[in-house]
Amino acid sequence: MLAKKYTAVAGQSSVIREIFEYGKKRAAVVGADNVFDFSIGNPSVPAPEMVNETAIRIMQTEDSCKVHGYPSAVGYDDTREAIAANLNRRYHMQYHKNNIFMTIGAASAISLCFRVLADYGQDDEIMVCAPYFPEYKCFIEGAGVKVTEISADPKDFQINFPELESKLNVHTRAIIINSPNNPTGVVYSEDTLKKLAAILEEASNRFGRPIYIISDEPYREIVFDDKTVPYVPHFYKNTLVCYSYSKSLSLPGERVGYIAFTDEISDADIMLGTIGAVAREMGYVGVPSLFQMVVRDCVDALSDISVYETNRNILYKALTQMGYQCVKPDGTFYIFPRCLEEDAENFCKRAQKYDLLVVPSTSFSCDSHFRLSYCVPTKRVERALPLFEKLIKEYRG
Ligand SMILES: Cc1ncc(COP(=O)(O)O)c(C=O)c1O
Repeated sequence: MLAKKYTAVAGQSSVIREIFEYGKKRAAVVGADNVFDFSIGNPSVPAPEMVNETAIRIMQTEDSCKVHGYPSAVGYDDTREAIAANLNRRYHMQYHKNNIFMTIGAASAISLCFRVLADYGQDDEIMVCAPYFPEYKCFIEGAGVKVTEISADPKDFQINFPELESKLNVHTRAIIINSPNNPTGVVYSEDTLKKLAAILEEASNRFGRPIYIISDEPYREIVFDDKTVPYVPHFYKNTLVCYSYSKSLSLPGERVGYIAFTDEISDADIMLGTIGAVAREMGYVGVPSLFQMVVRDCVDALSDISVYETNRNILYKALTQMGYQCVKPDGTFYIFPRCLEEDAENFCKRAQKYDLLVVPSTSFSCDSHFRLSYCVPTKRVERALPLFEKLIKEYRG
């Protein structure tokens, strides 16, 4: 017998993965060029040359036992110092190495935060704002914690504050936010963050314990039109920043990211040790050494992300001209238009008939939208446009 909790869901993969796998099968039939797979958020630009050069230099010149050895659980001192210095330069912060815990990408950063902030099976709740990255639910429920969902505000995909205020309660331990946002591409404005901070401060005082913000920021650098992304700790003290090099350095397979917190948070003196205790329990024996060293030396580098902005511009203009409704993405490599019918899953199935592979918004706990990941070559975006046109014509009759 195996654990019931997991046998009950064994073999279930995410809808996004299912569509991605379908795309591979379909490509074998009609040719890869004729499948317009906009399902998965895998960066389509290479890591900066500097990243590979640095990895090679490190392997050739640094002590092999260190390069391939066990890292310390919190991460290498010099990597954490380099990250702290980078954040201090960019955001005028006062981080030092003990404010940084290295993690296996953003996924492990956020799942560690959920367990650090909420107690297993104790009625604790973590808030999520729809539409949201589907893994949040899996991680929060896996931590034995209740997910409190705030429904989407499709007008601009900022936060639905009336609902948030009505659902805050004595069990609320944290809220996870994600800006720039997957799936909408929207950046939360300063006004949104100020309002969120004021509400959480008041509620923390009322309930007599801090409610944290977990700020999931893997797309922080991927913004367009010279937009700046407000840095959440500037607005709210009790913030845990979760970051990843998966998107900004196009390194999703290397699994490297971090959690950052300031000395001003409520539990600063025990935060690093508590994150370490959770990581131990989960069997995270640190982050691969080689890529910690690469990040140390490439901390200011960024992939050439210009193709994402080009693709955003082409798609937003063409889709809206055709009659699709969508909020203009400020960043990421996602766009989240309205479906042409209420049933998002049915809409995506009809799109599949044109070999357009898009993800229904139900995966992100939101109605009647679809997500398109445009981290693909621009030519593919352009070749897909007539198919989106055919699809809308099919609906309009
Ligand atoms: C919003 C969001 N958070 C977290 C992650 C996980 O990123 P990582 O590859 O760093 O684990 C992703 C990945 O797509 C994401 O979109």
